[in-house]
Amino acid sequence: MKKPLLIGITGGTGSGKTTVAKALHEAFKNNSVTMIMQDYYYKDQGHLSFEERLSTNYDHPNAFDTELMIEHLKSLLKGDSIRVPIYDFTMYTRKKETVLIEPADIIILEGILLLENEKIRELLDMKIYVDTDADIRILRRLMRDMKERGRSVDSVVNQYLDVVRPMHLQFIEPSKKYADIIIPEGGKNKVAIDIIIGSIKQYLRND
Ligand code: CTP
Repeated sequence: MKKPLLIGITGGTGSGKTTVAKALHEAFKNNSVTMIMQDYYYKDQGHLSFEERLSTNYDHPNAFDTELMIEHLKSLLKGDSIRVPIYDFTMYTRKKETVLIEPADIIILEGILLLENEKIRELLDMKIYVDTDADIRILRRLMRDMKERGRSVDSVVNQYLDVVRPMHLQFIEPSKKYADIIIPEGGKNKVAIDIIIGSIKQYLRND
C-alpha cells in the first residue's frame, strides 16, 4: 500500500480553512479521501461546570488532546480505522458519540494549531496556511458563532479581544513560517486551490 498523503490546512479563526478543506475533499471525491478537524480533539470538559468551560482558553495548544490526535493520525497512516470524538460547541465539551473514520489515500486535516506543534508538522506531507486579513476573519467568526454556535455578539467580541486575538498573534501567525504554501484569501482563491489539486494528482500518479 502506498503511504497516504496527509495534508494539513491551518490559519486563523474565520480564515476559510474549512472552505479550502471542502474544496480539496470535493475535488477527490472519486478517490479515497477523508477529512479530520482538529476541533474534534478539544479536550473533554464534561467534568467541569458550564462556567468553568466558558472560561477555558480554546485558542491555546493545551486546549487540545493532541496526543490522541497524533495517535489517530498514525493509525490512519498505517491503514487502520479510528473512532473520532465529536465536539459540541454549544455545550463546550465532547459528545458521547464517536464517529468511525476509515483509512484513505488522502487525509485532509484542518485546524488552527497544526503548524505550531513539531510532532504534527513532522507527520504532514503538505502544510497549507490560509492567510486572511483579521477584519474579514472576525466578521466571519461573528456571523458563524451566532448562527451555528449559539453565541451572542458580546460573547464573540469579548472572547476575540481577550483570548482569540492574543493567541493568534502568539501561536498561529508565527506558525506561518512552517507552511509549504500560503494561500491568501482562502476559499475564494481558485488559482491556489487548483495548483494544490494538481500537486495532489501528481502525488497519486507517481508510484
Ligand atoms: N472555540 C470556541 N468555543 C469552544 C471551542 C472552540 O469558541 N468551546 C473557538 C476557538 O476560540 C477557536 C475556534 O473555535 O478560535 C476554532 O475554530 P475556527 O478556526 O474558527 O473554525 P473553522 O470552521 O475550523 O475555521 P474556518 O473559519 O477558517 O473555516
